[in-house]
Order: sequence, then structure tokens, then C-alpha cells
Amino acid sequence: MQGMQHDMHQLSPSKAISPNAPGARAPMLHVFELPAFVDALPIPEPAPRTAAPHKLRIAMREIHAQVHRDLPPTRMWSYGPTPLAPIVEARSGHPLQIEWVNNLPTQHFLPIDHSLHGCGRDVPDVRTVAHVHGAKAPSKDDGYPDDWFVPGKSRICNYPNQQDAATLWYHDHAMGLNRLSTYAGLVGLYFIRDEVEDSLHLPAGKYEVPLILYDRNFTADGQLFYATSGDPNHPWIPEFSADGILINGKLRPFFDVEPRLYRFRVLNAANSRFFALSLSDQRPLVQIGSDQGLLSAPTDVKLLVLAPAERADFLIDFTHSAGETLHLRTGVLDILQFRVAKESTSPASSSIPVTLRTIERTPESSATINRTVTLNEYQDKIANPMIMLINRKRWHEPVTETPRLNSTEIWEFVNQTEDTHPMHLHLVRFQVLDRRTFDTFDYLMNKHLRFTAPAEPPAPNELGWKDTIQCPPGMITRIIVHFEGYVGKYLYHCHILEHEANDMMRPFEVIA
Ligand code: C2O
Ligand code: CU
Ligand code: CU
Repeated sequence: MQGMQHDMHQLSPSKAISPNAPGARAPMLHVFELPAFVDALPIPEPAPRTAAPHKLRIAMREIHAQVHRDLPPTRMWSYGPTPLAPIVEARSGHPLQIEWVNNLPTQHFLPIDHSLHGCGRDVPDVRTVAHVHGAKAPSKDDGYPDDWFVPGKSRICNYPNQQDAATLWYHDHAMGLNRLSTYAGLVGLYFIRDEVEDSLHLPAGKYEVPLILYDRNFTADGQLFYATSGDPNHPWIPEFSADGILINGKLRPFFDVEPRLYRFRVLNAANSRFFALSLSDQRPLVQIGSDQGLLSAPTDVKLLVLAPAERADFLIDFTHSAGETLHLRTGVLDILQFRVAKESTSPASSSIPVTLRTIERTPESSATINRTVTLNEYQDKIANPMIMLINRKRWHEPVTETPRLNSTEIWEFVNQTEDTHPMHLHLVRFQVLDRRTFDTFDYLMNKHLRFTAPAEPPAPNELGWKDTIQCPPGMITRIIVHFEGYVGKYLYHCHILEHEANDMMRPFEVIA
């Protein structure tokens, strides 16, 4: 390790071969050769307020930061001075104005695919638009993919925050580019709080811990690597997954905790990777919230599967683990080490509530429209995925989904592919009705829908409000959505960012 570390420091980032040029081969870093749990978990800072308390200014920039003790600084893009973008703290009912400032360089450092729609050589390489994922915001403030702006420019957006307490997040959404710019690091958290949440006296301050999870590949000199197809004219890859798991910008860090109750607010900010979270001592995570806020009651989850863009809020009680070490893992890989101190610094003032928030189930009978949304994948002659589509339509085709403001609809996602697609709708929150397997062959060949098993109800941790839903292969996943807030153009898409880019994204328009 010592020798390797020494060698790596000899390579300054500027002299290194550009690993992200399409087709280039750079020596890769073997992340599993790095010692785990040597870096302390960093905690994001709240966003700095300007003179007016309801106005924030968030600037995107290029930074260099160490993701591991034994690596040289890694070039990244961030919404703040460190890889951890500032947390936006909002109160329900109190509007915020954010000035998003693009101070990024004019060249991208990851391999752009100019053949993707809206990503041609006729537009500047670096474009950005911030989207607050899960926000109920007017269309013009939502971060529509075409609303991008270039380095040197900024954009002021208004967030009314007329919604329940929830773990929202913000990320880049520029057309054809956000899979790369999000990978470069343009990700941050946005918390909305309200009185219901306050009344629960959940662990707060240093006992409330945000965890932003994503995976990255690195070259031997510690720089971000994003693979390409090998075709210089079409470098897009259908899915991205990497060996290096980062939490809050560090590779497999450790976290010193006290023997007491903690609240963790977890975001899967990966491009394509699903996390299957559990605790090394087999005890369940006590989940209290999902994408759009608190569940009705805490629910024990032994294995918490988070798709890209999904959030989970859970409690871990370390009270009886004083002096011990335990791990949060994904699959069989330990990704975060908890080092429990022998004593607490203050008496514990919180306990696990019995109930959390009243959630009324939306009755199916309130829906006026039932929309079928097919999820399809097309392959080339040797079965490589070429393109993914929603309803066999491309992004730029005319709007086909036009829900009425204040109406309720059922959307059924008919997944004819072999992947689970995390489907996300902007503007709204929704509830999951059920999932049901069907004969995909019969559907494809004869346009005949034949169910092959009874409908499965949502899992207990899916009974709250959601904005992103896992649609498993060979199943019809049904959600019920009340369209409220604003009229205007929004979008829905698969949140596997590689799918979204080519071309699993469609507009919808809320009409009066
Ligand atoms: Cu995370 Cu279109 O959004
Ligand atoms: Cu969104
Ligand atoms: Cu997908």
C-alpha cells in the first residue's frame, strides 16, 4: 500500500492520460486494495443564507477533493466548495428563492455522447439546470431539461414548499448531459420540515445524519472514470455500475456514534446502482420515512432496497451497542462502519415514536383516468441494448399525457424489459396500488394482457408518499396520482440516468 500510494502521488492529474476520451484505456484503481474505514464520514453543511433569509445562492464549480486517505485529490463538480453540496433547509409553507450559479468550466471532463438527443455539437458542451427532485414547484422553476444555462450564467428559481416534511434532493437535469454531470458530483440534499415532524422529537442536530450514497470508478491516479461503449460516435452505455462505494463523498468511511438513538436520511444518488441496505448484526433498520416524507408508523426492514433517486429515513438505536463496532452494508459489502462510543455526551431525549403521520389512502374510485405506460427496450443484432422507450415514444415527440389539474389518475407501468426501472414523476407525490406479473410474450405478440399471479400489495415501507417507484420486470406496477399545484409542462422518466438519456423520458402537461 505504501509503495502504491507513493506512485500515485507522482502522477499529477494534468499529466495523466485522459482516461475519459472515448476508447482510451487507462490503468484502473482497484478500490478493494485500499483499506476501508480510514476516513471519517463528512457531514454536509447547511446552505449559507444571504442577507434576505428566504434567498439562497448556490454556485456550481469544479473542485478537487480526496475521496480516500491514500488517494490524491479527485477532480469533481459540486454545488459547494467540497464534494458535499450544502443542505437546503426549508420549512413547509415558507417559500425559498435559490439563485443557481453556473461557475463550471466550459469543457466537460467526462465522455459526452453527441449522438443523444439535445446533446449535439450545435449546443455548448457544458450546460446545466438544477432540478429539486420531489419539489412541488411551478413548471418554470422545476428545472426542465431544455432550460439549461451555460457557464457564467445563473438562474433564479422559486420553491413555494407547499408540501409536507420530506427528504428532497437537487441534481443536474440538463438534456443529454445529466448522467455525466450528476456523476461528476452535481448532487445535494433539500430538507423540508414541518410541525408534524417537530412534534415527534426525532433525533436532531448531530444525531440526524444525512447519507448520500453513490458508486464511482477511478483510474489508478484517483480520477473519476466513466466507461464508454467503445464506439467513438456513440459512447453511451446502457447502465453504469462501479466498485467504489462512496458515502458523503468518501470511499467506505467510518462514523463515530454515541450509544443512543440516531436518525439517518439516506439518498441513493447513483446513476444506475441499487443499494440493498442492512445492518451487520442482522437487526432491522427502523424505517420512518420514504421519498415524500414520514410513513404512518415505523416499520422494521431487514433489507432496504433503494433504487436510484429513492430516499429512506430510518432510525438505528445504538444504546445497547456501547463500545462495539457495526456496519451498514449493501449486499455483502460493508460500506459504513459505526464505532459506538462507551458513553453518550448527553442524555438521550428521543425514543422511537409509535405513530408518525396520518396518511390517507387515495381510493381507486377517485381516479378518472387509467393510463397504460409501457416500458420497452430495443436491442441490436447481438442483443446489446440500444435504446429504452416509454410508450414506444421518444422524448421529443408531442405530449401524450395531459392530466387535468386537481384530478386523480391511475398510471400502470407495463414493464416488458428485463430490468427494474425506477419511474419518477416530477411535481407530484403518489401512492403505490399494487404490482402484478403478466405474460409479456402474449402482451407483445397478441396485445393480450394475461396476468399470471394475483396482485401483490405494496410493502409496508411503500405505503407512504412516493415520487419514484421500482417497476420490476414482467410486472405491471400501478400508482395513483393526484395532480395538484400547477398547470404546465413537466416530465416523467426512469431514474437510471443512462436509461433516461436514451430515451426513457417523456413530457407530461398538467392542463386546466
Ligand atoms: Cu431526480 Cu427528473 O429527476
Ligand atoms: Cu424529479
Ligand atoms: Cu430504466
